[in-house]
Amino acid sequence: MPRLFSYSQFASGSDKVKAYADKHSPVITCDNQAKRNQPFKVKVKIGRNVKHPNAPDHHYEYIQLWNLETLISEVRLQRASYGDQPVQIETEFTFIPKVSLRLTAMAYCNKHGLWMSDEVVVHVTDQPEMD
Ligand SMILES: [Fe+2]
Repeated sequence: MPRLFSYSQFASGSDKVKAYADKHSPVITCDNQAKRNQPFKVKVKIGRNVKHPNAPDHHYEYIQLWNLETLISEVRLQRASYGDQPVQIETEFTFIPKVSLRLTAMAYCNKHGLWMSDEVVVHVTDQPEMD
C-alpha cells in the first residue's frame, strides 16, 4: 500500500516544509449542500497558495475525487498541456449525488507520491415539492 500524505502532517513544520506540503495538497471547493439527483460541481485545486513544478521529471499525473471508499471520478493530466513553469492545476468535477457525501480529493505527484485533501461533508437533500 502506498504512503498517503496530507497537509496536516506537515502543518507544524518550518515554512519550507509547509510550502512543500502546500504545493502538493489538493484542496476541494464546493457548496456544503446539494440536491439529490441534480448535477453538483466540485472544484479541486492542487496547492492552497504555492505552485508545484510542471517539469518532465516532476509533475502531477492525476486528480481523483472520492466519496469515502467510492471513486466518483478521475482526471488524467497531460503535463505538456499546463506549460513548463510551476502551476496550480485545477479541475472541476460535475456528478449526480444520490446520498450525502464525505468527499476527499487525491492527487499523484510522480516524484513525491500520493496526496490527500481535507475531507468535505456535503448534505444531500430532496428538492422541495413543486406545485
Ligand atoms: Fe512534487
